Amino acid sequence: MTLSAHNARQWDEFYKSSQTRVPYTDATVFALIALARNPDAVVFEFGCGNGQNLGFLRGLYPEAVLLGCDVSEQALIKGRQSYDRLGLFVSGDALGLKPGAIDVIVERATLQHIPKPLAAAYVDEMYEALKPGGRAFFEVASTDHGYAQMGDGSDDPVFGHRVFYDLDELKALFARFDVDQVFDRRRKQVDGDAVRDGRPVYDEAAFQFYLSKPA
Ligand SMILES: C[S@@+](CC[C@H](N)C(=O)[O-])C[C@H]1O[C@@H](n2cnc3c(N)ncnc32)[C@H](O)[C@@H]1O
Repeated sequence: MTLSAHNARQWDEFYKSSQTRVPYTDATVFALIALARNPDAVVFEFGCGNGQNLGFLRGLYPEAVLLGCDVSEQALIKGRQSYDRLGLFVSGDALGLKPGAIDVIVERATLQHIPKPLAAAYVDEMYEALKPGGRAFFEVASTDHGYAQMGDGSDDPVFGHRVFYDLDELKALFARFDVDQVFDRRRKQVDGDAVRDGRPVYDEAAFQFYLSKPA
């Protein structure tokens, strides 16, 4: 079994019975700004799930080239049913991207489900696939937000395999890129003063990396 196959089974189960529907995410806003600057930009989402982010972009840019991959075929079936002409494909331990073919890469809440060595290989492949001067956005939950256990492979009843990084590990993961900004997005849980391992617990918290590839 490939490393990603474990995730495929688990996420297929999730997408059979549930769907995420966020009105828009920061990943979509990032891509939206890039498309506003250059409507011919090729956009790729790593781990696009049911296509909610790319679908939002499709509504505003009917002709844009919008590509996405996911390990879950069920997720992509939902994406194809919901949105027009997204270039969705099932990925394995490699993404199969053509070097230098993509202008904009977005990722949201996907790397945090993938074993660290495999995640590093995906990031490397995405760096190669980005055109010089291209931009990338990654949003990754972190141990620094207190709601995550350190380490690789803790299990969550809904989302299964979960992998958490501290900020230095994330900087190392994206070391080949130019870092335009690191933003610490956090929203404290509304229901009280939860603390784990001595740190406040945040809901919907993650580091956002705004990256580019040198021209
Ligand atoms: C929390 S969901 C986020 C989906 C999407 N980015 C969004 O914002 O709606 C995580 C996604 O990562 C996908 N995933 C997990 N492991 C993966 C892998 N090795 N390669 C590609 N996608 C993967 C899952 O199938 C799932 O769709």
